[in-house]
Amino acid sequence: MAEYETILVEQRGAATLVTLNRPQALNALNGQVLDELLHAMAAFDKDASQGCAVLTGSAKAFAAGADIKEMQAQGFADMYGHDFFAGWDRFTRTRKPIIAAVAGYALGGGCEVAMMCDFILAADTAKFGQPEVKLAVSPGMGGSQRLAHAVGKAKAMEMCLTGRMMDAAEAERAGLVSRIVPADDLIDEAVKTAQTIAGMAPLAVLANKEMVNAAFEMSLSHGVQFERRLFHGLFGTEDQSEGMAAFVEKRAGVWSGR
Ligand code: CAA
Repeated sequence: MAEYETILVEQRGAATLVTLNRPQALNALNGQVLDELLHAMAAFDKDASQGCAVLTGSAKAFAAGADIKEMQAQGFADMYGHDFFAGWDRFTRTRKPIIAAVAGYALGGGCEVAMMCDFILAADTAKFGQPEVKLAVSPGMGGSQRLAHAVGKAKAMEMCLTGRMMDAAEAERAGLVSRIVPADDLIDEAVKTAQTIAGMAPLAVLANKEMVNAAFEMSLSHGVQFERRLFHGLFGTEDQSEGMAAFVEKRAGVWSGR
């Protein structure tokens, strides 16, 4: 496995655990983190032994944002000219599912990366926020859009305009996180959930992820049609025959991934 400086990558059965590892900067996301994460996620996507990833940080911070010290001296020409942050779009194109396991601060880019994942499991210590306005800027990695989709306009607008943080309970009520677990159990629970997903037929997992994501890009009627076509397509797989035979024969399915 590749050697990284700012992330740790570990395989636990069919689940890949990726841990952001810049404790001195509360896992602030700089260019090196992005490059290493993109490399690790591309390797994960290609590795047939791996079915789902977990992205996590430390107990204190999932990530406290994009690296302010890296951005501080940049001007418009640098940012616009290099399309700063555009690389994160590649992270969102990871085809297999990624669960964000968030403890502590998920602020600015940290909150945005958590929202780029397929769902968020939160420790009871998690805190979410988009405080960029306090730095006289704004979210730049999709936060204004994904937060508005996740929690609606009222909360998204208040958070972006004031920088107020949401705790885990509020985030769960608002629909930002799928569920809350005690901080000490976060990694085990996230890895167990990832292993459950990794135990499903791989093509069905890809199709389910793709169709739920389509709900955020398409009209309802197009989204429903897209879903139905993918559903039809799954009837061309060996695993559909196996899955339904296994149900009828009251046994566990054995997947070929075809
Ligand atoms: N970038 C760079 N360094 C950061 C950082 C960030 N986003 N967040 C924390 N750090 C660094 C601090 O500078 C500090 O480093 P030094 O020890 O060298 O001074 C170290 O991490 C520890 O941080 P604190 O001493 O501040 O820790 P704390 O416990 O007192 O406070 C905190 C924690 C409330 C999260 C505070 O660190 C904080 O407010 N961080 C910035 C949050 C923020 O504004 N995030 C948005 C960034 S902009 C962005 O993300 C743009 C975008 O849309 C992508």
